[in-house]
Amino acid sequence: MSVRVRVPAKVNVQLAVGGARPDGFHDLANVFLAVGLYDEITVTPADELRVTCSGPYAAQVPLDRTNLAARAALTLAQRRGLDPAVHIHIAKDIPVAGGMAGGSADGAGALLACDALWGAGASREELLEICAELGSDVPFSLVGGAALGVGRGEQLTVLEVGGAFHWVFAMAERGLSTPAVFREFDRLNEGVLIPEPVASQELLDALVKGDAGALAATLSNDLQPAALSLFPELADTLAAGRAAGALAGLVSGSGPTTAFLARDAESAARVAEALVASETCSSARVAVSPAPGATVV
Ligand code: C5P
Repeated sequence: MSVRVRVPAKVNVQLAVGGARPDGFHDLANVFLAVGLYDEITVTPADELRVTCSGPYAAQVPLDRTNLAARAALTLAQRRGLDPAVHIHIAKDIPVAGGMAGGSADGAGALLACDALWGAGASREELLEICAELGSDVPFSLVGGAALGVGRGEQLTVLEVGGAFHWVFAMAERGLSTPAVFREFDRLNEGVLIPEPVASQELLDALVKGDAGALAATLSNDLQPAALSLFPELADTLAAGRAAGALAGLVSGSGPTTAFLARDAESAARVAEALVASETCSSARVAVSPAPGATVV
């Protein structure tokens, strides 16, 4: 008997970052939007805890207990006094270390799958609590749709979205480490008084209306200068996507994946083609948002 769970990637349509806190994290106003690129997590009873991975990015995925999917299984098993003997297979389609919450998706997916497999009966509240323990972006992978995350980004308020948005994602040749990007943010802002991060009302209104033009005008990512500082070639990718007719482009989360908002599906396909032809990225994918959160399939 196996349980399979599908989990979406995310893009941050607003990522407002505050100053570094005493615990090393940063307070955020993080507007998450789930996009229709998915990892699939399958859990099957086994002799011992084991993680395998398939798909175009599989070689970059750690298969030891640092994998968030393994940590999710271990955490739930420990809470219930269960043996975490399970084979977790990740069919990976979300870029690794790309700023699209691929690792977080696998954590949320494995948690939901193990809960079902073991009949652990965790409440939504407990699942969200475990997700927040695993990482700042993991609760959103469980919830999906659109949400504002405050605190580390783990305290979620669900947001209304009034229509579909068409995205193009340009994948980079190499990954970026999230802690390294936050460290670069701190370095670039040394001596600067950083205001409290707040969500943009214009942006929330654009989501409610499903208005791509208005959303494009309000997209923002405070981590973008830090990501560009560590990965300057991303400026060429952003220029190529905008020149190809995207309404706007920005770095997704801590990067290095770049996200382009398009007017419609046709325009998105054209932007993706132009990005690949520009040779400023390793590949480009189209995806639609919002997408549902982690779901047993
Ligand atoms: O929560 P998570 O483990 O995903 O965070 C990874 C790293 O990103 C943290 O160790 C920290 O360096 C940085 N981070 C941060 N502020 C946040 C979220 C993450 O500084 N709100």
